[in-house]
Amino acid sequence: MIDDLKTVNPENRMTPTHIILGNARDSHLPDKLADLAFTSPPYLNNYDYADRARLETYFSGYASTWGDITDKVRSRLIMSATTQVNRNVFKVSDIISPQLKACEPCLAGAIQESVTELSQRRLVKGGRKSYDILVGQYFNDMAAVLADTYRLLKPKGKFVLILGDSAPYGVHIPTENWLGRIGCGLGFSTFTVQQLRTRGDKWRGNTQRHHVALQESLLTLYK
Ligand SMILES: C[S@@+](CC[C@H](N)C(=O)[O-])C[C@H]1O[C@@H](n2cnc3c(N)ncnc32)[C@H](O)[C@@H]1O
Repeated sequence: MIDDLKTVNPENRMTPTHIILGNARDSHLPDKLADLAFTSPPYLNNYDYADRARLETYFSGYASTWGDITDKVRSRLIMSATTQVNRNVFKVSDIISPQLKACEPCLAGAIQESVTELSQRRLVKGGRKSYDILVGQYFNDMAAVLADTYRLLKPKGKFVLILGDSAPYGVHIPTENWLGRIGCGLGFSTFTVQQLRTRGDKWRGNTQRHHVALQESLLTLYK
């Protein structure tokens, strides 16, 4: 992908570009670097990005087994799929990180309540999916991303995210609103949510799924 991007004619670029191989939770970029941060982060929708790149990672020889991809990729990504969960590593009854508890104690309690509810619901589901840990750790990871991005934005800078909400095992998680509140707890002055489209309609009639109306939105946080 990086090689493809290098072929874009530099004369057509409006500004200089730099591609950085890094981690959005801890970017190591300098403070107050940017006017705008824009991203489509992993959604809380059980999509395994390590698996999505399996064709490329196997074909290039970077990895050759599931365990290999887990060590080299899956375990390092923001948690967004139950395939990333190792239940031995987390304490389900107290999963919220100190960073998230400190910046938004009230919301940290609500997230913990959803985690606890999901830990009950999974026991009566065939797949027993670890949505409980997925939800808790997703917000821990995204709090670290919001904190690092706040640090590297200039005063009055904006952080724009495209996101969807979700309803694992029928428990509605208002992701965009909760991330907006976490952002404000970390120092952003305010946030807006603009709905782009509704989601999940194609599943209507599938009795195995929840009936919660979902949406995809643009979340904007203002420093
Ligand atoms: C919704 S996708 C966005 C994809 C991107 N817009 C594109 O067109 O390729 C979320 C992306 O975040 C990446 N990701 C997961 N954890 C990350 C982390 N800690 N730091 C940076 N990116 C991460 C995933 O690998 C995935 O490619």
